[in-house]
Amino acid sequence: RVYVLAFDVGVDRLAAARVGLGGVILDRRVALRQRGSFDLAQVIAILAGFARQMLRKTRPDTVCVGAAAAFCGAVRKSDGVVRTGPNIGLEETPFGEQLSGKLALGLPVVVGNDANLGALAEHTRGVGLGCRDLIYLHGDVGIGGGIIAGGQLLGGFAGYGGEVGHIVVNPGGRPCGCGSRGCLEAEVGERALMEHAGRGAGEIVGRDGVRAVVDAADRGDVVAQEALHGVGSWLGLGVANLVNVFNPEMVIFGGTLREMYLGSAAQVRSQINVATLAATREGLRLRTSGLGDDAPLMGAAELAFGQVLADPLDA
Ligand code: BGC
Ligand code: NA
Ligand code: ZN
Repeated sequence: RVYVLAFDVGVDRLAAARVGLGGVILDRRVALRQRGSFDLAQVIAILAGFARQMLRKTRPDTVCVGAAAAFCGAVRKSDGVVRTGPNIGLEETPFGEQLSGKLALGLPVVVGNDANLGALAEHTRGVGLGCRDLIYLHGDVGIGGGIIAGGQLLGGFAGYGGEVGHIVVNPGGRPCGCGSRGCLEAEVGERALMEHAGRGAGEIVGRDGVRAVVDAADRGDVVAQEALHGVGSWLGLGVANLVNVFNPEMVIFGGTLREMYLGSAAQVRSQINVATLAATREGLRLRTSGLGDDAPLMGAAELAFGQVLADPLDA
């Protein structure tokens, strides 16, 4: 019996899983972290600790055949180095090599962009099954995009394709972790939502913060509703731009964007209707991720298995 180790490194959430063939989760660990304190050595220690705990629980007749990590930043295709993680202040980091060293299993850890891997997972086993043209949007602290066009993941020239969080939707708008202003993730991210909802310092941020605003809006809180509708319009504009360019059959909202989308679906739809060529949105389906926060993690498992299956005869 074979399995792979899959990891997901978000800005404030770490996850690890042991995944069997067919995407079956055999074991899983999650840690929520404090934002604004991304300590690489600590992150690697936590993930390696998770792996050790999970390996200890495996039966003797099982074998780990691969490992891969989804990462909240742009990953260079040629060597798997994290080129930049805009919300964690990382540049040029050989994350896979470092995690592999700490795991000491004699296995490389392949690294991919979180949203690209989320798109892969949705395409192979999620709501995007059978869909050859889809866009997966992943909400973490930032917003990531994974574009499947004609059944292929769009990697771009060096692997950085799909950085949709940094499309500028509001010139001169809110500052973004990348150094620019008015990026989609700056206008739609958790921080923007919390501030518009009047929930500033001292309040819960991260996923729970987003959920709290959505819950308040559901209960009729007008400020929360307006905040959601505001970010929903920016989200819709970002999606509209993508729809014009890629003519996808489906756009999938995952991670924290799932809640944000559900709380602002009408605004998202109406922006798409206003800002796209009618032909490019014909037949378009908007969906939330069935894999939830786990799409990148599941994509990492696919990537790890892909490495194994790609070279079956390699000695
Ligand atoms: C990064 C992307 C990442 C996204 C979601 C963005 O800030 O640039 O690489 O996919 O956040 O984590
Ligand atoms: Na991406
Ligand atoms: Zn940006």
